[in-house]
Amino acid sequence: IADVQEDIDYELISSEEIHTIIAKAAAQVSKDYQGKNPLLVAVLKGAINTLAAFSQELSIPCQLDFMSLSSYGSGTTSTGTITVRQDLSTDVRGRHILIVEDIVDSGRTLAWLVEELKRRGAASVEIFALLEKPARREVDVDIKYPGKEIPDEFVVGFGLDYDERYRNLDSIAVLKPKVYQGEQA
Ligand code: PRP
Ligand code: MN
Ligand code: MG
Repeated sequence: IADVQEDIDYELISSEEIHTIIAKAAAQVSKDYQGKNPLLVAVLKGAINTLAAFSQELSIPCQLDFMSLSSYGSGTTSTGTITVRQDLSTDVRGRHILIVEDIVDSGRTLAWLVEELKRRGAASVEIFALLEKPARREVDVDIKYPGKEIPDEFVVGFGLDYDERYRNLDSIAVLKPKVYQGEQA
C-alpha cells in the first residue's frame, strides 16, 4: 500500500477529540485513585496509544503493566475466544487495578479480564475504555470510566487495527469497504 490515507473512507474522531476524551477520564481517575497507587493494565495491542496518552494525563503516582489479549484474529469480527499472547509481570494481589482498553465491542475481552484479575486477588478492578460500540454488546461489563460511544462501523487508528495495520494513525477512522472485501466470513 503506497499511502494509508487512500484506504480511509472518513475520519470519525480527530486527534484533538481523542485527547479531550482521555484528559477528562484521567482527571476523574486522578481524583478517585488519590493514595491508591493504581496499577494501569493496558490490553495490548490495541490499548497502547490510549495507555500512553492516558497515563501522561494522570496527576497521581501509578504503575503500568501490559497483557496482550486477542479475540479477533485477522478478521473484522470477534472469535469470542480469548487468547493470552503475553501475561502481566506484576503480582496483582491487593492492588487497585484500572484496565485501560481501546474499544469494547462484544465485551468478551473485558468480561474475561475482569474475572481473571479478581481471581488473582486484585483489591479492585475498574475500566477506562476509549470507545464503546453499544450495538455489538453481547455480555454485560461495567465501564466505570467510559469514553465515547460509536456506531457499528469498523474503525482503525490510535491503536486499533485491521489485520495488524493502521494502529499508528493519530486519529480514528472508518476504512473503505474495498480494504476488507474478500475477507473470509
Ligand atoms: C480488539 C480490541 C479489544 C477487543 C474488543 O482487540 O482492541 O481489545 O478486540 O472486542 P470484544 O469486546 O468483542 O472482546 P483484538 O482482539 O483485535 O486484539 P488487538 O488489541 O491486539 O488488536
Ligand atoms: Mn485489543
Ligand atoms: Mg485487533
